[in-house]
Amino acid sequence: MNVSDYGEDIAEVLVSAEDIDSRLEEMARELEVMYEGREDLLLVGVLRGAAMVMSNLALKLRIPVTMDWMAVSSYGMSTKSSGVVRILKDLDTDIAGRDVLIVEDIIDSGLTLAWLKANLESRGARSVRIVALLRKPDALKVPLDVDIVGFDLPDEFLVGYGLDYAEKYRNLNCVGLLSPHVYSE
Ligand code: PRP
Repeated sequence: MNVSDYGEDIAEVLVSAEDIDSRLEEMARELEVMYEGREDLLLVGVLRGAAMVMSNLALKLRIPVTMDWMAVSSYGMSTKSSGVVRILKDLDTDIAGRDVLIVEDIIDSGLTLAWLKANLESRGARSVRIVALLRKPDALKVPLDVDIVGFDLPDEFLVGYGLDYAEKYRNLNCVGLLSPHVYSE
């Protein structure tokens, strides 16, 4: 969907569909260099938000990859602050000895990825790296090594390209600021 399909719900477009597409192209080229000579790269998409980034990045890569998915959730309301994460859907792949690239839509507090990276490393992966389309540097609560980031954005209410509000707006083709009237109604 385009931003106009959502009427007045999007206050401002922060990253256009075209900018996302060309940045994903650049990120794919960076990854090809990073994994040159490696034959067994596994992309791990984190459901549900990463679905768009995972698909479009994978389509742009000119190296063979396999793909798997995880779904994670926090325990109760405090998850995001506690950093405690629960696995709702685990990998179907044994990652021992594999190069693993976690693909995310957004890094907010960084707690989900800090936990996930440590979890995947503990399974004996050869390497665990992180690529994220978006990051909110002002929202980070833990130090997190991210190998490739598409765009750094302000700590505001973002939707689109996988990011939702009440499960809506994930299929918006750009990233925008949600209008306050949507969540204050
Ligand atoms: C979002 C996003 C990351 C996480 C980032 O997922 O996809 O997984 O939050 O936040 P953090 O850096 O503060 O840990 P969310 O839990 O909203 O689920 P979703 O992917 O299903 O939208």
